[in-house]
Amino acid sequence: MKKIILFSLVVLLLSSFESPKNKPSGIEAKINALVAKMTLKEKLGQLQQLTLYKQELSPNLKEQIKNGEMGSFLNVEGAQLKNALQKIAVEESRLKIPIIFGRDVIHGFRTIYPIPLGQASSWNPDLVEKAARLTAVEATSEGINWTFAPMVDIARDARWGRIAESVGEDPYLASAFSAAMVKGFQGNNLNEATSMAACVKHFVGYGAAEGGRDYNTAIIPENILRDVYLPSFKAAKEAGAATYMSSFNEINGIPASGNAFTLRKVLRDEWKFDGFVVSDWGSIEEMINHGFCADKKEAALKGFNAGVDMEMVTTCYADNLEQLIKEGKVSMARIDESVKNILRVKFRLGLFDHPYAKLDGEAVILSKENLETACKLAEQSMVLLKNENNTLPLSKTIRNLAVIGPLADDGKDQLGCWAPDGKGDESITPLTALRSSLGAGVNIIYARGASSCRSMDESDIPAAVEAARQADAVVVFAGEDALLSGEAHSRAFLNIPGIQEKLINAVAATGKPVVLVVMAGRPLVMNLVEPNVKSILYAWHPGTMAGPAVANVLFGKTSPSGKLPVTFVRWVGQIPTYYAHKNTGRPPSVKNTGIPMGTPLDPQGFVSGYLDLDYTPAYSFGYGLSYTTFAYKNLVLSREKIKPGEKLMVSAEITNTGNVDADEVVQLYIRDLVASVTRPVKELKGFKRVSIKAGETVKVEFTLTDADLAFYNDKMKFVFEPGKFNVWISKNADEGLKGAFELVEK
Ligand code: NOJ
Repeated sequence: MKKIILFSLVVLLLSSFESPKNKPSGIEAKINALVAKMTLKEKLGQLQQLTLYKQELSPNLKEQIKNGEMGSFLNVEGAQLKNALQKIAVEESRLKIPIIFGRDVIHGFRTIYPIPLGQASSWNPDLVEKAARLTAVEATSEGINWTFAPMVDIARDARWGRIAESVGEDPYLASAFSAAMVKGFQGNNLNEATSMAACVKHFVGYGAAEGGRDYNTAIIPENILRDVYLPSFKAAKEAGAATYMSSFNEINGIPASGNAFTLRKVLRDEWKFDGFVVSDWGSIEEMINHGFCADKKEAALKGFNAGVDMEMVTTCYADNLEQLIKEGKVSMARIDESVKNILRVKFRLGLFDHPYAKLDGEAVILSKENLETACKLAEQSMVLLKNENNTLPLSKTIRNLAVIGPLADDGKDQLGCWAPDGKGDESITPLTALRSSLGAGVNIIYARGASSCRSMDESDIPAAVEAARQADAVVVFAGEDALLSGEAHSRAFLNIPGIQEKLINAVAATGKPVVLVVMAGRPLVMNLVEPNVKSILYAWHPGTMAGPAVANVLFGKTSPSGKLPVTFVRWVGQIPTYYAHKNTGRPPSVKNTGIPMGTPLDPQGFVSGYLDLDYTPAYSFGYGLSYTTFAYKNLVLSREKIKPGEKLMVSAEITNTGNVDADEVVQLYIRDLVASVTRPVKELKGFKRVSIKAGETVKVEFTLTDADLAFYNDKMKFVFEPGKFNVWISKNADEGLKGAFELVEK
């Protein structure tokens, strides 16, 4: 039996992270002095966040702010109204404590970048960090101090509408984007006027909702919680995240917004987080519906004592905490702790020194740099899934181009979900961009083909077919309108909705080469159209600059370089399918393409697959084609055996074997072959985006340390275990150069 070695870095895990801006700087003294002056009412005011439904300052509200009973607002629109509210807080209230204004600035403020799942397809955290930085510059110019982002829930079920807001299925990849987004939103120093506090959400396990139904139950064993669901939240903490949001779901029977294990033990005691936690919208009161609390008073007690500092929208705290203190169920020390957590963030943000919006936002809104970055990120987020006969890039000699589909010219839908401040008329659509970039020499024949993505009316199909007949090449823009993904927008069918599949197939039946550009908030099931089209470019919802980005990719100005951050299933019945699955005792190995009549009962043997469908996904995690080809060779490991504390270098040579310069995302995976707790068949442990010129070879090298080999065992200890490992340098989770090494005891 293997001897288990306690992972030495457990000490590190338990130690606190201190960014320079968190270093004692007199802030703690200021907080203590302020709290000492506060009445209970003023303290409870800091724990409350409200929304302004009518966007107006009623006399009642004015009074509340004046009395110091309002710590935060969300969704106050415009700088002027925010400044008016703030003026009362900092000039008329007794202690002059500023309000913190929150908003869902998820993938852009006015300049909208690709949806987060699209951003994750870029495998380019540096560019994503830049987009978040520029987003913060725009949003803070309107007085937004705090964004409810990043969302770093691990999502392995495409039915779940919020997969669009996630950064995918994998803890390693999600951690990279989590840190990048936090750094981008918060900047180098929270105190700067263009920095806004990040709110890492939804803590935790929200993406594991049963059946992909939003807000649903999550059952997550603790080791899986720690190995899979928590790392992206931990990465945010290490990047200096100022706040967290507790989620709607329950975890193993305890609602996340009343969960002392995750909120107290993990977040505070283990990670030493010292910012504040806000509930999700009504998630404290919803613990009554969960059957965890009898009434609002108990919801306040359980939510607050578990560690949720601020309540969003509902008023369980405001209505009940005073009484709960009288009854001795909530201590004054606990109240002070939460108030201090909130004030700490307000001080770190510099709100006491610069509480107002600057009112000169227009200069930074939709600036040239923002639009160029949005275009570049949209290009890098697009994933080429199929390219038969090198149909793409389209030839510059094309004279007649049919542009078809409900998403070819819809500025709002291309923004995707959760873009409340994005405006459709500020977008550049593919039709507009193709017209302007191709000029008068190319005849663009546009046919919408369907009045909307969900329309069942077939009457526009004949005109689309006619457009295709007249063209040398056809591009169909199909997929989901923005509303089909996002919060509470789960789907049971993942086909391209409405009559779009019919439209695509009718157009393809003309025999003209069809390029399908899919805009969607989730991986869709495309097998009813895939055989009929020559190319599929998966563009997600690309944002404001969808048009120029798509045009650049279609005509080869840029080679596609996005890779999937989630696995695509063939049919909904395969969900959940993710690359880092366990092997089982009876893994399938033979591809099964269906059950012909007369097939014996066990066509593939008694294995863990489906009788009526191949077990493999439609497209693997990490998959994505390019306009060139890359050859992987010469996998080299710096040693065959490593001891704890040693490093293993793994390298390979990647050659661009085609004719165009392009980026490739090179991926590193491992497998721990035998362990005291079974390990996934593959785990991503590194990736690099490299630019390789046509004909050029580059050496890509990764470093593995014992920390990369560790996992949570059945005693919830973070350990690595001696034994054999496989390692791959790959173009996706399915293909790659394979090597092996052994971890030996000292
Ligand atoms: C509910 C959503 O779950 C959350 O993500 C969002 O930030 C809040 N509403 C505030 O709008």
